[in-house]
Amino acid sequence: MAKTRWYKDAVVYQIYPRSFCDSNGDGIGDIRGIISKLDYLKELGITCVWLSPCYKSPNDDNGYDISNYRDIMDEFGTLEDWQEMIDGMHARGIKLVMDLVVNHTSDEHEWFKQSRSSKDNPYRDYYIWRKGRGKDGKKPPNNWTSRFTGSAWTYDETTDEWYLHLFSKKQPDLNWDNPKVRQEVADICNYWFEKGVDGFRCDVITYISKEEGLPNGKWNPALKGDEHFTIGPNYHKYIHELNQRSWSKYDTMTVGEGQGITIDNAEEIVAEEREELDCVFTFEHQTQVDSFIVTVPKKFNLVKWKEIFSNWQKIPSNCQNSLYIENHDYSRSLPRYGKLEYRETVGKMLAISVYLLKGTPYIYQGQEIGMTNIDNFQPEDYKDQVSVKIYEICKKFGLGKIAIWALQRKARDHARAPMQWSDAKNAGFTTGDETWMMVNPNYVDINVEESEERPDSLLHFYQKLIKFRLGNEVIIKGSYKQYDAKNKKVWVYERALDNKKYVVVANYTDKQFSYTMPDELTKYEKCVVLLHNYEDGNNKIVKKMVLRPYEAIAYEIE
Ligand code: NOJ
Repeated sequence: MAKTRWYKDAVVYQIYPRSFCDSNGDGIGDIRGIISKLDYLKELGITCVWLSPCYKSPNDDNGYDISNYRDIMDEFGTLEDWQEMIDGMHARGIKLVMDLVVNHTSDEHEWFKQSRSSKDNPYRDYYIWRKGRGKDGKKPPNNWTSRFTGSAWTYDETTDEWYLHLFSKKQPDLNWDNPKVRQEVADICNYWFEKGVDGFRCDVITYISKEEGLPNGKWNPALKGDEHFTIGPNYHKYIHELNQRSWSKYDTMTVGEGQGITIDNAEEIVAEEREELDCVFTFEHQTQVDSFIVTVPKKFNLVKWKEIFSNWQKIPSNCQNSLYIENHDYSRSLPRYGKLEYRETVGKMLAISVYLLKGTPYIYQGQEIGMTNIDNFQPEDYKDQVSVKIYEICKKFGLGKIAIWALQRKARDHARAPMQWSDAKNAGFTTGDETWMMVNPNYVDINVEESEERPDSLLHFYQKLIKFRLGNEVIIKGSYKQYDAKNKKVWVYERALDNKKYVVVANYTDKQFSYTMPDELTKYEKCVVLLHNYEDGNNKIVKKMVLRPYEAIAYEIE
């Protein structure tokens, strides 16, 4: 089928179903809750939803551990609810991209239950089993570490062997070298495409191919083994095969989570003629501030941030990058990049400076109303197993307080707190008394209802920005040029196509100061403000511009 490549002009909204909206009062978000908010999404203007996993799962990792790929998690509803949801999305011109988690399954998946039952079970080779090392085989087969701390191997008594899991021990890795596994994955994709799904966000997809012999990883204080399974030996072969067996048969979008992907190898991963993935997420801009597993928070460096985004703007036109500031794996962005006293101003500044770049934008639920981290976040409130493990390990070494400090700033839980719909009890997320995870107490002030009522809210700003961006060729495919790259406070860039030229100026600091604009940008006949996070002032580009805290403006010049 000829691909329309609709994703090049899409704005995606990520829903983390457990925390989005609860329809039945059990304190857990669900599909009927999503259905009840489809008009809200339509009003926001997004054109696609990425839904984090909603399949059957014992929820060791909130659905990223799937026990049945063809059915819906009981807590979220039924296949009929799901069908109603996708129909409702399509009726509103919104596409649906589901999460495809196939590097691993849950240990409660039937395949794994069979696999672990005996060495000659037909499903044995669906997973990666090895004998232990040492005289009595009591040492793991190699030194690889789980991304969730500890060894990547778990011993299983039934067959006296170890299985590999790059995440928790309840997430055994599938053996992609087994052709049957690869066919199962293609069949799962086709099953959902036949039901109308528009694409997949492919979880840790660059980890699927492991190096033969599973050699020890080089020494590394945190994660060991990466070099033996990140974009491994058969990665391209397996993804191309999956593309041919499934993805290429529908007008799809596939976006790969990008461990190991940089601008230098992006073309190998997503160039259209390779017929592999369509788009990619990079971690480069996120990890220069924070990675979710390493507990030591880093200081934000604007020069580096600009360099990473600017490099990605060089991506060839037969490839597609993604633009995101938040997702369910990081704490909220506002405290990371700005001072909370300027909460919405920072939110608008980030939106202007990042979402007018080339690439497919992703907005994570709650980002559009400026949700923040939970103040005074305590160990008893941690729900994410990574937070719990980090805290426990640190506590064992007498570092409990440091862990609390670090997790306050960077736990994934912050982004998973229930969506704040109103100032009603539990933020209007549920009608029940309890919620699966604590509601951020600041919902009384920060919520959708309040944002809808106030014309200058971040929410209204997002609506305006999305409208401005959709169909705008300058943004979708125009050229990019950065000015003053070494400036530590301001990001200035230009986007241009044919005779149209946009200029973005963003002050990333909480200070007011006079900024000298590059000469080239002060020569124009006409200058129009397109988007601005202050009500007035700076209505044209002048040589000396007084920029207020976190002020950001997008101009069109002629
Ligand atoms: C990446 C997902 O985004 C994250 O939430 C999950 O824990 C891991 N993959 C494991 O599936």
